[in-house]
Amino acid sequence: MKVLLDAATQEAALRADVVAGLTAARKWLPPKWFYDARGSELFERITELPEYYPTRAERAVLTAHAADVARHTGARTLVELGSGYSTKTRLLLEALPLTSFVAMDVSPTALEAAAERIAADHPHLRVDSVVGDFTQHLGHLPGGPGRLVAFLGGTIGNFEPADRARFLAGVRAALEPGEHLLLGTDLVKSPRVLVPAYDDAAGVTAEFNKNVLRVLNRHLDADFDLDGFTHVALWDADHEWIEMRLRARWPMRVTVPAVNLVVEFTTGEELRTEISAKFRREGVEKELTEAGFTLDHWWTDPEGRFALSLARARS
Ligand code: AVJ
Repeated sequence: MKVLLDAATQEAALRADVVAGLTAARKWLPPKWFYDARGSELFERITELPEYYPTRAERAVLTAHAADVARHTGARTLVELGSGYSTKTRLLLEALPLTSFVAMDVSPTALEAAAERIAADHPHLRVDSVVGDFTQHLGHLPGGPGRLVAFLGGTIGNFEPADRARFLAGVRAALEPGEHLLLGTDLVKSPRVLVPAYDDAAGVTAEFNKNVLRVLNRHLDADFDLDGFTHVALWDADHEWIEMRLRARWPMRVTVPAVNLVVEFTTGEELRTEISAKFRREGVEKELTEAGFTLDHWWTDPEGRFALSLARARS
C-alpha cells in the first residue's frame, strides 16, 4: 500500500475544512469526512436500500457494457478512483484483459479489504493500492500505457462545477493521449425518485449524514449532540443537485477544542454536508470536451437513471 496521504496530513486537512466550513456565514462541511470506518459501512448499507437506486442502476450498466469497455479500450491497467470497497469493480476486472489494477482512496481500511479480496480472486493481476486524495494526487498514478481510469458511483456529483472542471482536467493531465476515463453519473429525474434516495424510510442516510458530526467529535474532540440535528435532503432544481443538510433543532453552542472553536447554531440553522449533482448527457459531454476528452460512448440502464461515459484523452 502506497501512502500519499498520511494520518497527520489528513487530520490537518480535516481541521482546516472544519475551521473554514463552521465559521462561514452559511455553514458547510465537505462530504469526504463522512467516510471513516463507520461511515463507509453506512454507505455500503445505503447502496442496498430500496430507495437508493444509483448503485443498482450503475451495476446494470456495467453488467451490460463491461465487454464493450474492454473492446473499445483494450485497457491493461485499471485505475479506480474513490474505489471504497470496489464491489462493482469486479465486473470490469472480469471483462478487461488487465495486467494491473490500481485503487486510490482516502480510506486505508476500505482499500485494504478491497485489495486483498481482489488479489485473492485474481492471482495473476498486479494489485496496487494508493492511499490518496484524487483531488491532489492524480500526478502520482503509476504509468501506462493502456490505462483506464474509472470514477464510478456518481461521486463526481459531490464536486461543485468549478471543482469538477479542475478534477477532470487533472485526470486528463495524468493520462496519455488515447487512454480512457470511465465516468459514472447519476441522471436528472423526478424529485419524487431523487429525494427518497437521500432520505430513506429506514433512516440509514440520516445516520450517515450525522456520522460527520461523530467524526468531528472523535477526531477533534468536539461535543456535537447528534440528537440536536435533523437530517434534511432537498432537490435544488436550479443547480440540479441534491443537497444534504443537518438542521439544528434548538439553539446549540458546540466546542471544537482541537481548533479552538466555539460554534453557535440557532434553531433551524442548517449545515450543508453534501451536494450530489445529477447530470444530462449534453452537460457531461460538454464538460468532458472542455477537459480534453472525447466522449466515445454513453450507456445508461434500461430505465435511463444512471449513465456511464467512456471518454478518450485527446492529443
Ligand atoms: C458516494 C457520492 C455517490 O452522492 O449518492 C449517498 C453519497 N450520500 N447517500 C451519492 C451519498 C447520501 C453518494 N456518492
